[in-house]
Amino acid sequence: MGSGTAGGGIVPDQSVTPQPVLVRGGTVVTEEGQRRADVLCVAGKIAVVGERLEAPAGGAVIDAGGCLVMPGGLDPHTHMRLPMMGTHVADDFLSGTAAAASGGTTTLLDFVGPERGQSPLEALRLRLGEAAIASVDYGFHMTVSWWGDRFSEEMGPLVAEHGVTSFKFFTAYKGALMLPDEDIIRGFVRCRELGALPQIHAEHGDLIAYLQAKLLRQGDVGPSAHARSRPSQLEGEATHRVITIAEIVDVPLYVVHVSAAEAAEFIGRARRRGLRVIGETLPGFLAIDDAVYQDPDFDQAAGHVMSPPFRPRGHPEALWRAVEDGALTTTGTDHCCFTREQKRQGKDRFTSIPNGVGSVEDRLHIVWHLGVNGGHLSPERFVSVTSANAARAYNLWPRKGSLQVGADADVAVLDPARTKTISARTQRQRTDFSIWEGREVRGVVVHTLAGGRHVYADGDLRAEAGSGRFLKRAPFGPAYEPAAGQRTPR
Ligand code: URP
Ligand code: ZN
Ligand code: ZN
Repeated sequence: MGSGTAGGGIVPDQSVTPQPVLVRGGTVVTEEGQRRADVLCVAGKIAVVGERLEAPAGGAVIDAGGCLVMPGGLDPHTHMRLPMMGTHVADDFLSGTAAAASGGTTTLLDFVGPERGQSPLEALRLRLGEAAIASVDYGFHMTVSWWGDRFSEEMGPLVAEHGVTSFKFFTAYKGALMLPDEDIIRGFVRCRELGALPQIHAEHGDLIAYLQAKLLRQGDVGPSAHARSRPSQLEGEATHRVITIAEIVDVPLYVVHVSAAEAAEFIGRARRRGLRVIGETLPGFLAIDDAVYQDPDFDQAAGHVMSPPFRPRGHPEALWRAVEDGALTTTGTDHCCFTREQKRQGKDRFTSIPNGVGSVEDRLHIVWHLGVNGGHLSPERFVSVTSANAARAYNLWPRKGSLQVGADADVAVLDPARTKTISARTQRQRTDFSIWEGREVRGVVVHTLAGGRHVYADGDLRAEAGSGRFLKRAPFGPAYEPAAGQRTPR
């Protein structure tokens, strides 16, 4: 890894213009199609996509022969250094973005999480300080961790001046982040006034609290009880309820981390009725089922504890169908990784296990391997679900998620024949656990350009602290028309 370490003393140097880079001899894949072409990047932007381009004077050449050249991944859902249950997510903005870059992801949308009663503007200021070490571009969603007049007022400058244009509401985590429906309605109305996009963590928080208390009373304290305290119909119910709220308020809605077939079904139905509901799923939910919670080894079972949890067999298959038929259109990771030791704080009580798993490093590999090799996705749709659709949802397209001339030179070069076995022993994510341990994937990112910088070169991670830029996002206009030159979220 390049200069700079997590912690103090970082001087972000974004003033140095990246040298020109020619990505030569590959097959360019975008949403529109595939063609043999070279990609010339100048001053951090896509300058030319064409055949047999000249190598730039004083620039670098990347040999992409036999490889696919695609827009860098946009992970719309990460949690670097998130405080949770008395501990912190193990990855900070340097280790997490470097891991992302090594797997072809060049943009993260992370969260600002104000304390209860804390000014969201102040929380943003502090979070920007934490993120200054990022090695790829990043933007923020705001967690609506409490509701009141001050929160509502500060949403104005957050959207109009600071480029924070999406707000995550929770129907779960009772006693912490969960808001009553009346506050969710107020918050959605405020989003509509501002042209901001509400997001929802949809699970029925009161019923989860009831089931947690019941299981603990019965002495059912191990990690397997985590999944039983959050059955899939609680996600279905909350998803349906919040889609109804969004429809009545007349605001688009982004549903994060969809894990349950019921939730995907409600989102698909809403979209077929023409509602602007966008569903995000995670690679883990497309591949892993709740058998992981039956592992007698606490570290293995607790390592998979996240909310919503992995679901019974049948749900991953249903989610793939929902991706295929366009109900679910984006993939994030909800990257929120902890070490085995951190998870052990819940050894005697599943409700004390920090919630979350990691994946930011291998999202593209998993989605390619399962999706494209598995026959669910064309390479073009791979681009849609790993970057372009999220870029549109968050008003970053075509700067992100495209290889149009003038777009940021964020490029992932993927060798479809290369294989990799994922392991905690070799990953860059800063944890000793992987939900993908031992999985072999075919289709591996071999080069990554982030803002024109060659941050990953076939095993050599060159990501530099501070080279990522904060992305101020524009709000949507009246009736949620996208900003000029952009496309409607889909
Ligand atoms: O378990 C999870 N998903 N942790 C991250 C917080 C959230 O709800 O997204
Ligand atoms: Zn959530
Ligand atoms: Zn999350």
